[in-house]
Amino acid sequence: MNETLSVIENRKSTRNFSPAGISEEEKDAILHATMRAPTAGNLMLYSIIEVEDQTLKERLAVTCDNQPFIAKAPYVLLFVADYQRFFDFFMFSDAETACVQKGFSPRLPQEGDLLLACCDALIAAQTAVIAAESMGIGSCYIGDILENAEIHREIFHLPRYTLPITLLCFGRPAVEKSEKRLTPRYERKYIVFKNAYRRLAAGEFPHMVKTAAEHNFPELTLEEAAKTLGQNIYMRKYVSEFSVEMNRSVRGWISQWNGQQESD
Ligand SMILES: Cc1cc2nc3c(=O)[nH]c(=O)nc-3n(C[C@H](O)[C@H](O)[C@H](O)COP(=O)(O)O)c2cc1C
Repeated sequence: MNETLSVIENRKSTRNFSPAGISEEEKDAILHATMRAPTAGNLMLYSIIEVEDQTLKERLAVTCDNQPFIAKAPYVLLFVADYQRFFDFFMFSDAETACVQKGFSPRLPQEGDLLLACCDALIAAQTAVIAAESMGIGSCYIGDILENAEIHREIFHLPRYTLPITLLCFGRPAVEKSEKRLTPRYERKYIVFKNAYRRLAAGEFPHMVKTAAEHNFPELTLEEAAKTLGQNIYMRKYVSEFSVEMNRSVRGWISQWNGQQESD
């Protein structure tokens, strides 16, 4: 296994940070690598906000589903899917007038543009994760930044054609890396298909989740254990308060892009 593969193989999310900070050189190296990530049309449809203010980190620790470790992270980056910069550039360029003159119809940013900008921002984020990891700096994604659209829009002054797609916390792990085991993954046959999508048959699910099911419910048969696990995940991850709030909040972001509510 080469060094790059080894870094990827041994990465695990870090939520417990050592007090050792991250130097300006290290931050610079992370940001430099991040901006080398592939980007659709080379437009860089994302912005990165370095969250340095401690009060702000503490606020995010609450608004992102009460996760106190956010406030303790030495370095926090917000990744914003961003079509605002390019749309503003188009306006600066009188692109709409030129477009009409050439017989085309101008348009506003739409859902496809939003998803493309999200791709850009997330690819940049994961590049930051690997760059940091290669320097011994751990990280953890915070998906809950998608919640509380109104609050996050106001805190970060996010204009209409943006969406804060993910937050990343960085820091050196407090616990020696080798002391933490890698989180398991499902077997490749359930995830990777050849040439076309393959919908799993009912009988495959107990085997897909076998490790977790048997670990959590050793007293049950595999099928019963798998169903109990599925019910637990449904309750904890799918209908729980944070998930309902995330979907409400994301509807708000999409409505804002579509001009269905007041925007700046
Ligand atoms: C999009 C996304 C959102 C996540 N959000 C959170 C989060 O809000 N809080 C958290 O502690 N971990 C979060 N994680 C980390 C996952 O829980 C973690 O990646 C997963 O459990 C696998 O563990 P590993 O990263 O150690 O392999 C998130 C990961 C991703 C990719």
